[in-house]
Amino acid sequence: METNFWLERWQQGLTGFHQEQVNPYLVQNWLKLGATAGDKILVPLCGKSKDMVWLRQQGMDVLGVELSSMAIEAFFTENQLQAKQDAHGRFSRWRSPGYELLCGDFFDVIPSDTQHHRFVYDRASLVALPPDMRQRYAHHLSHLLLSDSRVLLVTMEYLQHEMQGPPFSVNESEVRELYSSVFSIEKAGQVDVLSENQRFRERGLSAMMETTYIMTRKTS
Ligand SMILES: C[S@@+](CC[C@H](N)C(=O)[O-])C[C@H]1O[C@@H](n2cnc3c(N)ncnc32)[C@H](O)[C@@H]1O
Repeated sequence: METNFWLERWQQGLTGFHQEQVNPYLVQNWLKLGATAGDKILVPLCGKSKDMVWLRQQGMDVLGVELSSMAIEAFFTENQLQAKQDAHGRFSRWRSPGYELLCGDFFDVIPSDTQHHRFVYDRASLVALPPDMRQRYAHHLSHLLLSDSRVLLVTMEYLQHEMQGPPFSVNESEVRELYSSVFSIEKAGQVDVLSENQRFRERGLSAMMETTYIMTRKTS
């Protein structure tokens, strides 16, 4: 997926992936991550997700990474937060107490940016990417995290021939292929969500599951 694809989606308001409600799998599985107030959480490909506000309400320091400055600006405006901007490496950085959002390419994040981050939340991030980029993404994320870091991952599964991504279908065997050399992986739940997703029924899907995983980085 080219950078411009996403920038245009934001410019054209084609952001059907954005949820006005906090993601239920985040709320249901949060305690399993074992994070406590003051811990830092990385949210790759964060969009303007309300989940970041919920994470902040749990006392987390949130580090989001997002290509689109429109998304980041909307996040701060819609949540009535004042942000200060500066440059940080290859990123434009937006900060407000408890939040740091880096505007730029996730693949430009370097380990020193995430050295204190032991938690990651990935909803609609891995599945936003086509297969070759998913490998690169998983490799890059693994490289950024230290032993014992924990990831809450939410994926979608459907018959890929029924719809062109994004979102792409990422099944359990692919999650294991991408991550099992570096993470231990626990499947935390799976829900059939087609009946509540009219937009995916309209796109021709006959089934759609959302699956949640808790992954713990093995000792390196
Ligand atoms: C499907 S959306 C999901 C957003 C968010 N995780 C959510 O749950 O609403 C994917 C987001 O990733 C951003 N994105 C795509 N590729 C990226 C990259 N290489 N670096 C940073 N952000 C990226 C897009 O602009 C888009 O906002």
